[in-house]
Amino acid sequence: MPGPGAFLIGDEERREVEEVLQSGYLSRYGKEDDPRFLKKVVTLEQQFAERIGTSYCIAVNGGTGALMASLVALNVGPGVEVLVPGYTFVASLSAIIAVGGTPILTEIDDSLTMDPGDLESKITERTRVIMPIHMLGNPCNMDKIMQVANANNLLVLEDCCQSLGASYKGKPLGSIGDIGAFSMNVNKTITSGDGGLVTTGDRHLHERAFGYHDQGHMPLRFGVEIGKRSIIGINLRMNELTGAFALGQLKKLDTILTLLTQKKEVFKRAIIDGGIKNLGFRKINDPEECHTLITVIFPNKEVSQSVAKTLHTRIVSDSDWHVYNNMEQLLSYTDNDGFRPFKRNMLPKTDDILERAINLSVGVVDSGLGAGFGINILSDEKEIHNKAEQFLEAVSKEIN
Ligand SMILES: Cc1ncc(COP(=O)(O)O)c(C=O)c1O
Repeated sequence: MPGPGAFLIGDEERREVEEVLQSGYLSRYGKEDDPRFLKKVVTLEQQFAERIGTSYCIAVNGGTGALMASLVALNVGPGVEVLVPGYTFVASLSAIIAVGGTPILTEIDDSLTMDPGDLESKITERTRVIMPIHMLGNPCNMDKIMQVANANNLLVLEDCCQSLGASYKGKPLGSIGDIGAFSMNVNKTITSGDGGLVTTGDRHLHERAFGYHDQGHMPLRFGVEIGKRSIIGINLRMNELTGAFALGQLKKLDTILTLLTQKKEVFKRAIIDGGIKNLGFRKINDPEECHTLITVIFPNKEVSQSVAKTLHTRIVSDSDWHVYNNMEQLLSYTDNDGFRPFKRNMLPKTDDILERAINLSVGVVDSGLGAGFGINILSDEKEIHNKAEQFLEAVSKEIN
């Protein structure tokens, strides 16, 4: 089940894609002086950079590709450690390993994002990057994370894949650290089926990330530039059809964010008005979050599990792709030095929070995220109140 952008696909996206089909130019590269070549990918990069407030943006094939290009730009490779929370989509961890680096897991706090208090003790002489994940649309505590990064001379890669549209203290996510990575898969704020974006204000990082995404070429080439390639790259390019579709969706971003804010407000208010004591919510680090989900935190695992069972959903610790304990392929991973970065239950604080939490969908309806129950961006007031009542009924059987 998809994210909010997927619910609103319509004429804008269709028109954009038809223009590309009529132009005959399907690659991001074409004859620069041919007026039929519409440069949809380049236009997307310009509009996205403007939106995030960074000088540069690179459109790529997905969020995983955006993370890999960003990590390579930051010189992550063999022998380099990246601090990353144990609650994130598996791609955040596998991208680090794919470029040869070592993920070092950190705890989350009651915002379900990186716990800045757990960073210092995990820094070694090999640490180069902190990778905060703006999980479930909620900005990380970026003030504290940037403080630790600056004090220890570390670089910051923001994983914004679940948080396009959110800001922290007035700054759009993806513009605070050294580089940011976004996803447009079907579960995200806006979608192009698959697709990703890298944002940075640093020209050098832009060149390196661009080069990695396109066989080492310098940014904005319109042909093969032999002799100018600065880095060994691969192909993570976005094509014109995807770029065009994404442009159609990007036009809808503000509408999506407004709708999500309204729906979440009504849903959460209806739950709070139910008057159930001992019902907590995750800490939201900035009101300009994405409003894609509500996370309820219960007093103990027994209660959260019973409520989840009644609602035919799952507690967050059982959401299989997002919790390190459930990633069997990583738990058995050993790096070239024989080091095993992942061990089951190595993050007791994270385990405790996730066992007591249930995600309710507002805009991202994704059972893989543990958000199999809730509303969606098109839900009307009646449906929202109905879902709130169902939720309250399930909870009141357990606590009151
Ligand atoms: C936090 C996070 N990072 C990275 C990714 C990877 O993005 P993609 O699926 O576009 O490769 C996702 C996607 O679900 C994600 O949620």
